[in-house]
Amino acid sequence: MALIYSCFLFLLLSSVLHLFFDHSEKVEAYRFDEITANLKLQSHVISLSSLMPARVCSTQAQGSKNLSSRLPQVTHKHGPCSPLKNGKAKIPSLRQILIDDQTRVKSINSKISNKDQVTDSTVKLPANSGSSLGTENFIVKLGFGTPKQDFVLVFDTGSDLTWIQCQPCSGACYSQQDPIFDPSTSSTYSNISCNSATCAQLKSATGNTQSCRTTCIYQITYGDSSYSAGYFATDTLTLSSSDVFPNFEFGCGQNNQGLWGSEDGLLGLGRDQISMVSQTAQKYGKLFSYCLPSKSSSTGFLAFGSEAVASSSAQYTPLLTESNNPSFYFLTMTGISVGGQNLSISPSVFTTSGTIIDSGTVITRLPPAAYSKLRSAFRQAMTKYTLAPPYSILDTCYNLSGYTNVSVPTIVLYFGGGTDLNVDQSGILVQASSTKYCLAFAGNSAATDVGILGNKQQQTFEVVYNVEGGKLGFGAGACN
Ligand SMILES: *[C@@H]1O[C@H](CO)[C@@H](O)[C@H](O)[C@H]1NC(C)=O
Ligand SMILES: *[C@@H]1O[C@H](CO)[C@@H](O)[C@H](O)[C@H]1NC(C)=O
Ligand SMILES: *[C@@H]1O[C@H](CO)[C@@H](O)[C@H](O)[C@H]1NC(C)=O
Ligand SMILES: *[C@@H]1O[C@H](CO)[C@@H](O)[C@H](O)[C@H]1NC(C)=O
Ligand SMILES: *[C@@H]1O[C@H](CO)[C@@H](O)[C@H](O)[C@H]1NC(C)=O
Repeated sequence: MALIYSCFLFLLLSSVLHLFFDHSEKVEAYRFDEITANLKLQSHVISLSSLMPARVCSTQAQGSKNLSSRLPQVTHKHGPCSPLKNGKAKIPSLRQILIDDQTRVKSINSKISNKDQVTDSTVKLPANSGSSLGTENFIVKLGFGTPKQDFVLVFDTGSDLTWIQCQPCSGACYSQQDPIFDPSTSSTYSNISCNSATCAQLKSATGNTQSCRTTCIYQITYGDSSYSAGYFATDTLTLSSSDVFPNFEFGCGQNNQGLWGSEDGLLGLGRDQISMVSQTAQKYGKLFSYCLPSKSSSTGFLAFGSEAVASSSAQYTPLLTESNNPSFYFLTMTGISVGGQNLSISPSVFTTSGTIIDSGTVITRLPPAAYSKLRSAFRQAMTKYTLAPPYSILDTCYNLSGYTNVSVPTIVLYFGGGTDLNVDQSGILVQASSTKYCLAFAGNSAATDVGILGNKQQQTFEVVYNVEGGKLGFGAGACN
């Protein structure tokens, strides 16, 4: 025992002496730490299997809070955690996802540049039956009516109107997850009248100038393939037993087209007057957040109100308003770094395009001049891997046959207010085929097309929309 003790003392003494007398080695150790820290800043080692589709839903609870205003079960529409009946099996190809994504981006740009024929009241049938709004959107469950019936809705920060399919489906309803909402069985349902102020608000949100005689009619188109039309109505919206909103304005969809998967409708989280965010402002103060999971095998959340914001360390950037485009969430983008090196991009590149954040666009779109800088820096950092032909809109792809792990450079997006988004490793590459992986960013074709921060690059961050406070925050590591 005494021997062990003295050995211990000797070791202790020698390490103390070491500390006092051997400065050089200590400095070396610091340098080494610094170097590893810098390497960490410059690259991620990604295990390719983490980018492959998962088979099993991991039911681990996300986040520590269990608030009434936090809707659990934000999941990918497709994959093992999807509550949709056909969502588990029918996983669309990346090619299809990218076609749909491009349709959405075109539609956003035509809305922003006002090229949309807002007075065209003839509804075009889907030209391409394969297209639908946001194949890679995220879904949540909400209750409508009295007694409450639950529905699975896609949530969308790029549009305002909330709608669900409605009986008697006098036009056409597609086959959906749950029984279709029947207003005649809800004691709290009412139509909105045509000559009400509420009906007038529809115009700015949907671009709908259709005339009506008694009941307010809405019609909303998404891209050139999906649409919903029906009665603009009110009923009770229920998030939880303590979060109930009587007279919530929504679309009771009588004629709905486009392959919507099988979700029951859409939750509009834009910032115009009729969006859910505006309608619940009294209770939630136009504050909400979400965390989009990086894998279809995990779940995220959508939460409302100040209590629901989980990240205390979120970094905020100003939210800008454009009076011509009141529903989009505009941000100021200032720069990009790849592997810890800032790219030399003139600030005018970002001011010319403008930038929005969107929950429904998958792949981040950058102005062409910014994307080409990102692409060359990324390719330079990836020279040890074999470049492969482009895949759809993705032009920087690699044949990673034979690799289990790859080292990719970090990508940081800089925003106004000194905020940066260090893209999670799940948001840098997407898997295109068994051995082909591509950079998950794309360039716009025109310098004036809007830049879009897509959902792939938002994954795992809590994204806080503080609309009243005029700021948007990113909190790292809020879900996985
Ligand atoms: C959290 O909420 C869920 C559903 O609302 C409930 O089933 C669960 O018991 C709650 N958990 C805790 C720890 O309160
Ligand atoms: C709502 O309006 C439609 C069309 O005018 C009508 O068929 C329906 O009965 C109305 N529903 C209620 C509850 O008033
Ligand atoms: C890179 O750019 C960002 C944002 O413009 C800036 O905050 C940061 O200091 C720059 N880093 C370097 C190393 O120049
Ligand atoms: C990828 O690389 C592997 C091995 O280097 C090769 O056998 C395979 O044909 C390549 N795949 C494609 C699609 O080029
Ligand atoms: C791959 O990365 C994982 C962690 O991401 C690590 O556990 C594993 O050892 C790595 N495999 C190889 C072959 O480097």
